[in-house]
Amino acid sequence: MKTLNIAIFGFGTVGSNVVKMILQNKEQLQKTCKTPFSTLNLKYIAVRNKASSIKKSKKISINISEKIFTENHNDIWNDPEVNCIIEVIGGTDIAKNIIYKAVETKRNIITANKAVLAEFGNEIFSLAKKNNVTVGFEASVAGGIPIIKTLKNHFSVGNITSIEGILNGTCNYMLSNLENNIELSYADVLKDAQEKGFAESNPSADVDGWDSAAKIAILSSICFHTNIPKMTDFPVEGISKITSEKITQAGKKNQKIRLIASAKNINDTIKITVKPEEVEKNSPFYSVNGPDNMIIIHHEYLGEIVLKGAGAGGEATAMSIISDIVNL
Ligand SMILES: NC(=O)c1ccc[n+]([C@@H]2O[C@H](COP(=O)([O-])OP(=O)(O)OC[C@H]3O[C@@H](n4cnc5c(N)ncnc54)[C@H](OP(=O)(O)O)[C@@H]3O)[C@@H](O)[C@H]2O)c1
Repeated sequence: MKTLNIAIFGFGTVGSNVVKMILQNKEQLQKTCKTPFSTLNLKYIAVRNKASSIKKSKKISINISEKIFTENHNDIWNDPEVNCIIEVIGGTDIAKNIIYKAVETKRNIITANKAVLAEFGNEIFSLAKKNNVTVGFEASVAGGIPIIKTLKNHFSVGNITSIEGILNGTCNYMLSNLENNIELSYADVLKDAQEKGFAESNPSADVDGWDSAAKIAILSSICFHTNIPKMTDFPVEGISKITSEKITQAGKKNQKIRLIASAKNINDTIKITVKPEEVEKNSPFYSVNGPDNMIIIHHEYLGEIVLKGAGAGGEATAMSIISDIVNL
């Protein structure tokens, strides 16, 4: 039996929780793995700053050998025993190189990086197939909601006709905040989201719709068995033009404004959009508040399936990474 030797790149919000979950549940994890591994070994944690990462591990009560941390990526690439890479550094430059290198050197790769997958996923998946390695990407869409495996494993017969979702927790948090505090402006709720850690200092990917676009592109490709569509090939509109007046007007009609990403099969043509929509009180989307996500699937035999839950957050997203480890 083989040992599963894991190297994780990134020890931030998601990475530190993955490390914690692996260490705290090692035995249970090993028993649950689809492939029987003799041992499950967290061999490296690649970080930018070793000293501050060690300090952080102590602060969050992760009892781990300091030797595991490395600032040198080559420690990992030069170790032939490493057979599973987890990329949770984010961004598109270094992260993309790590994902490609993992696949090229025939290591399984697990990533939460929707931005890289939306742009380069087609090539990455085909290279992975050629090199007989797995690409796990459950965490790349809707954080802790198990949408990728649900789509891949459950709908074996019949056709999905549409998939729609609230896929960006930052935007949903901001829209809910505008609804509940009508005296606030868009700038106020953005500032609040940044202060509470729901939005990044450069919020463009979230509020301009590109994060939702990357996610719906990935979901659409699985639902409709196509390549991942280019985000520039479908209309993408974010929430930056939403004012408190628009929210009030919608409220008067018993509606809420939500950023909806959707992919629909209309007469064998896939129509994808990302845009703010007015949702009616009887829509499941109406009940989604704060940073939660929701996905609604329509299937010819099953009708409507609704999945709702934590679309982000360290622990929720780490759970999806863990599920990819188990399914290697
Ligand atoms: N946070 C969420 O709720 C969530 C949900 C779903 C998906 N994701 C995805 O998960 C990924 C990680 O997100 P996150 O929130 O965990 O980000 P984060 O908190 O910013 O963590 C990223 C970590 O990577 C480290 N890093 C950056 N460049 C590195 C390098 N060259 N080598 C080694 N480490 C490096 C950073 O180190 P420094 O501390 O030195 O900067 C930081 O600790 C992203 O792709 C994100 O889109 C996140």
